[in-house]
Amino acid sequence: MSDIVIYFSRAGENYFGGELKNIEKGNTEVIAEFIQEFTGADLFKVEPEVEYPEDYMECIEIAKKEEQMNSRPKIKESLEGLEGYDTVYIGFPNWWGTLPMPMFTQLEQLDFTGKVVKPFVTHEGSGFGKSIKDLSKLCVGADIKKGLSIPGSEVYNVKDTVGLWIEE
Ligand SMILES: Cc1cc2nc3c(=O)[nH]c(=O)nc-3n(C[C@H](O)[C@H](O)[C@H](O)COP(=O)(O)O)c2cc1C
Repeated sequence: MSDIVIYFSRAGENYFGGELKNIEKGNTEVIAEFIQEFTGADLFKVEPEVEYPEDYMECIEIAKKEEQMNSRPKIKESLEGLEGYDTVYIGFPNWWGTLPMPMFTQLEQLDFTGKVVKPFVTHEGSGFGKSIKDLSKLCVGADIKKGLSIPGSEVYNVKDTVGLWIEE
């Protein structure tokens, strides 16, 4: 049996400790790749059919509306199933207190019965927000383990922490 990392991450303009910066690789993706290095897990990136704007302010407005409307944005490709995987790492940025809505689109399509789920989030101060509560509804039948919460500006400094969390 093997592991998989299902994640969302957006490159482009983002806030780091009050400053806008352009990043080529999203923060959550950095952590997803550490997990792959440690475990050999497959990576599955959830990507919206209509990409979010690179402009931070435009992006947060769209994301806010999607969250308020509880929408399910279409995604480019769906992961069909979890057969062959026992541990499922689920990674995402905190967007308005929970997972970006395209993650809802993907996770609702999967059967989590009997799977171990290890959630991780990157954020700018709110940690997991209400995402763990939302994940417990999205991953029915899964054993959801303790999550790992990382400030977005710290992702390149926490490789060891990620390794220890995997072993927990
Ligand atoms: C649309 C949007 C909404 C966000 N909402 C929050 C929030 O509610 N709380 C928080 O701590 N950070 C929030 N952030 C900051 C991100 O969670 C943080 O920068 C994260 O590390 C981005 O990950 P990524 O580069 O993998 O997309 C938000 C960022 C965006 C773009």
